[in-house]
Amino acid sequence: MKKLDEIIENIKFGVDYYPEHWPEERWETDAELMEKMGIQMVRMAEFSWHKMEPRCGEFHFEWLDRAVNLLGRHGIYTMLGTPTAAPPAWIVEKNPEILPVDSNGQRKSFGGRHHDCQSNKVYREHVKRIVAAMAEHFKNNPYIIGWQIDNELGNSHDDLCMCESCKNAFSRWLENKYHTIDELNHQWGTSFWSQEYDDFSQIPVPRKTPTVHNPSMLLDWKRFCSDLVIDFQNMQISIIRKISPNQKITHNLMGFYDKTNYFKMAETLDFAANDQYPTGYYFKAPGQPPYEVAACMDFIRCVKQKNFWMMEMQSGPTGGSVIGANPRPGQNLLWTAQSVAHGADEITYFRWRTCLFGAEQFWHGILPHNGVPGRRYSEIQETIQILTPVMDDIHGIVQKAQAGILFSYENEWAIRLQPQNPGLKYDEVVFKYYKEFYKHNITVDFVASGADLGKYRILVAPLLYLMTPELEKRLEKYVKDGGILILTMRTGGMNNNNVCMSENPLPGKLAAIVGAKVEEYDSLYEKNVILNMKDWKGIGEHWCDILSPASAVPIAIYGSEYYKGKAAIVKNKYKNGWVYYIGTDPEEKTMEYLMEKILTDAGMFREKTGNVEIVFRKGRKKEYLFVMNHAEEDCVAEVPGGWNAEERIQLKGYEVKILERNCGNDKSGRQS
Ligand code: GAL
Ligand code: ZN
Repeated sequence: MKKLDEIIENIKFGVDYYPEHWPEERWETDAELMEKMGIQMVRMAEFSWHKMEPRCGEFHFEWLDRAVNLLGRHGIYTMLGTPTAAPPAWIVEKNPEILPVDSNGQRKSFGGRHHDCQSNKVYREHVKRIVAAMAEHFKNNPYIIGWQIDNELGNSHDDLCMCESCKNAFSRWLENKYHTIDELNHQWGTSFWSQEYDDFSQIPVPRKTPTVHNPSMLLDWKRFCSDLVIDFQNMQISIIRKISPNQKITHNLMGFYDKTNYFKMAETLDFAANDQYPTGYYFKAPGQPPYEVAACMDFIRCVKQKNFWMMEMQSGPTGGSVIGANPRPGQNLLWTAQSVAHGADEITYFRWRTCLFGAEQFWHGILPHNGVPGRRYSEIQETIQILTPVMDDIHGIVQKAQAGILFSYENEWAIRLQPQNPGLKYDEVVFKYYKEFYKHNITVDFVASGADLGKYRILVAPLLYLMTPELEKRLEKYVKDGGILILTMRTGGMNNNNVCMSENPLPGKLAAIVGAKVEEYDSLYEKNVILNMKDWKGIGEHWCDILSPASAVPIAIYGSEYYKGKAAIVKNKYKNGWVYYIGTDPEEKTMEYLMEKILTDAGMFREKTGNVEIVFRKGRKKEYLFVMNHAEEDCVAEVPGGWNAEERIQLKGYEVKILERNCGNDKSGRQS
């Protein structure tokens, strides 16, 4: 038997498979069709708790053994999901207290999935029992390569549970953070509206009140919820690691889904995995813009700074009560190639066959309801043939980025809690900057604030609202050492406890590197502001920081409002680096103009390529250029020289071409 690492390294394509939904006589046909297609692994059982434990402590893994072994005989390995996203009715009947409570104090009902409270001790005992039994049962099965913990943790919880058990867990979490109640009162400013607490046990969860909660409390609640979900995951991980130390563990993350801090969540995983549905959730076609899909995958690559797996890749139309667009010919290959280009080492398609019943009977898989292979089957089969040799070569090699975007969950939570202007959304501002790099085909890393900043030539820190003295120091050092830093409106507005800064004018101590300070600010309602730039009249939206430069040079001046003539965007030389401060939210054309200037000054400018996305990947033997047309229409793409190809290549609608050359043939100086 081959060693697990070797097996895993060889796995490139999989499907999400639910044998329990089909008569057992069909399994053999499924396995044959999978094998013929090139499938090497399946993920199974992540919603099959009742099938595995129909009564407390009575385990039935025989059916799953048969499925695992049958697939194994076809050369297909299995990743098992722990089934804790869907506790069965008998658990809820026995322990109704495990059902989550909403912000009205109302207990939710059994049904759907994720109807569980993750702090509840009784629920955790049920979880420990099933996870340990599964791990024990499957530890020696040579076809099991590893585990997915739960399923999309944090999903389907609009607000996380607000029950008594969560309230107690929250007070313990707060006590651990602040040690004394006086300290908490001081940090949260509870003297406002007479909210001083005498004991941690008095602190509520953010259920509905006649008015609004304390913003420091709300931010800590978000942090607590994230930590709780991670703790729930890690509890399961430690059980499996103890019983079966060699099998790999991952979790299916959801791009920029913000309930849990994925940087922290991924620490205990062997590798990260992602779920991606590019047509989105049955919105109007064509769904999620390709740059956003690209951003999600770059993000998941960055949570562990390591290539990742795609645990669910859309294969057919999405659907609930209404049905989304069917992937157009070419789109399955296009989406798969895009994922690989951005760092997916493996692609698992969701799902093998469209289910006949249940809440997702319209969420289509590779095979249609009738189970007969059709267009999607052949296109994915062809996708596997095209991409396997490329993936063999680039597997495990992480692409290098010169551009970084600082991504902070805490800032996202804080801005979501208090957007300050209804148009200000953290993720949208992040995407706005990402999109400009994307248009120029520049690889971007998403960077946690504690990570090594020094490797990026340019670093954007959007809406860096919560500031700490450590972060100020790290940013100063980054610029001093030669980095190019882009800061935006609202930088340094709050301390880490969501309390307004008052020692210095904004952006606080960072004014020294910005070379300017914020005199006043203005939130724009139903109007925009004119930005006068060197050879461009731009538009700012949502927010205006009115800047007074010291050493900084203005590059955009307000052209309207009472602050007409004042600086809106400035640039400052600081030691060996540069800082840009963008005091407003530039609309897209203005952003495009601005970022072109910044990229040119940074020596990073590359021509834009419209709907065509170009990604460079270096392999062991060869280098590759993924040229991907995301539009329905045919087009001509301009590719850089040195690729044994015409400089202008024809691409049909949704077509991908992967150019290759031997390593070391790069004459264009392209790095990423
Ligand atoms: C994901 C989830 C799957 C399935 C899929 C399609 O969010 O992990 O279990 O529900 O969406 O809806
Ligand atoms: Zn709870």
